[in-house]
Amino acid sequence: MTQTLKFTSRVFHRLRWASELGASEGLDSMPRSLADMPGPSMPSFLAELFCKGGLSRLHELQVQGAARFGRVWLARFGTMRTVYVAAPALVEQLLRQEGPLPERCSFSSWAEHRRRHQRACGLLTAEGEEWQKLRSLLAPLLLRPQAAAGYAETLDKVVGDLVRLLRRQRGRGTRPPTLVRDVAGEFYKFGLEGIAAVLLGSRLGCLEAEVPSDTETFIRAVGSVFVSTLLTMAMPNWLRRLVPGPWTRLCRDWDQMFAFAQQHVEQREAEEVMNHGNSEKDMPTGAHLTHFLFREKVSAQSILGNVTELLLAGVDTVSNTLSWALYELSRHPEVQRALHSEITTTLGPGSSAHPQATALSQLPLLKAVLKEVLRLYPVVPGNSRVPDKDIRVGDYIIPQNILTHFEVLPEPGAPPVRPMTRTVLVPERSINLQFVDR
Ligand code: HEM
Repeated sequence: MTQTLKFTSRVFHRLRWASELGASEGLDSMPRSLADMPGPSMPSFLAELFCKGGLSRLHELQVQGAARFGRVWLARFGTMRTVYVAAPALVEQLLRQEGPLPERCSFSSWAEHRRRHQRACGLLTAEGEEWQKLRSLLAPLLLRPQAAAGYAETLDKVVGDLVRLLRRQRGRGTRPPTLVRDVAGEFYKFGLEGIAAVLLGSRLGCLEAEVPSDTETFIRAVGSVFVSTLLTMAMPNWLRRLVPGPWTRLCRDWDQMFAFAQQHVEQREAEEVMNHGNSEKDMPTGAHLTHFLFREKVSAQSILGNVTELLLAGVDTVSNTLSWALYELSRHPEVQRALHSEITTTLGPGSSAHPQATALSQLPLLKAVLKEVLRLYPVVPGNSRVPDKDIRVGDYIIPQNILTHFEVLPEPGAPPVRPMTRTVLVPERSINLQFVDR
């Protein structure tokens, strides 16, 4: 009797899902539960991560998982369960079921760091109404395309420094030109220099021959925090107490990033006080987000929380995209030639005036190249949000508080061909760069 009741209630539950969700992707079949979802066993996933270097090639594991298990699969890593979704229609289905305010997973170690160390959350860790407040504040100052365009001149100076640095490394006039040994590393430093200029109006010296030691520390912390994040999120509390290393490392990395940002925010605050009443033109460091936030009377704690998280968000996203873009252009010289021609025709050959952000609308191939690169190598293949209710994706019901990661295969239906990984950045770290003379 109990068995029959359980069965009937399961059938009703599934029928309710099928009728409520209508006729989108995969909804004509009976939904299945997480227990039915294919995926590697926990021991084999752990062996892949720890014995076969999987921690430094997570993206590749994601592609291989899709080839082995299909469009939706599940990986268990300690207490963490992640559903991997590898089809555009299913990613869309997932995202469309999100509520208006983001909910972060309850085991987010970044949010825990903020709580334990009395730090304010930024846009990456805030949730619910706090997130909405921050998002409404930052959108007109930084996130909307028009706001972003306002930083074009600031960024152009940083781009100029990068080009000079790479030219120096190539050796002017030498035949054949010297190879740039670590182009991914240079892009990484460029990412930090650029985002720091936008957020703080500070030039950090990342693109100088000698990088200042606090900047080096920040760069190391950004790299290391992602690995300790994964480990701490997977560890139950009792294991964290037994093996404190990853949690200690995560806190050290975030504290170093906060300290770095704090030093710059305090400098800007002192300048704000000195320049009180002066016009924007008189500012020694040019327009930057911190200035706008002080002007909006945002608290120093909240400015610090946001600036630190935005510094992190703006480094490896930008640098990985550039590295993969160059890699693909080096493999497709015909596209490289067409892009060179589009840029020189639009901006004028050897033009020294900084290009206006509006020029982007005349550079459709440049946009297409970047979009294709991000499709092939998505630098952010998921987000830290979780569903606030049970949702259906394809044939499965995904319970709330389960993380999801996305992957879209190179060609629909084709087996993934991915000889490299996201974390290694570029396969040969010595691409012979071909420059567009501006
Ligand atoms: C090529 C460069 C970049 C790519 C491909 C990229 C991609 C993404 C993606 C896919 C998300 C997740 C969206 C979602 O929540 O569903 C995201 C969120 C975010 N990104 Fe970026 N990003 C890039 C550069 C940057 C930069 C330079 C910054 C810093 C100014 C930044 C700051 C953020 C923030 C704060 C969020 C969280 C937004 C929120 O939750 O409201 N990103 N990014």
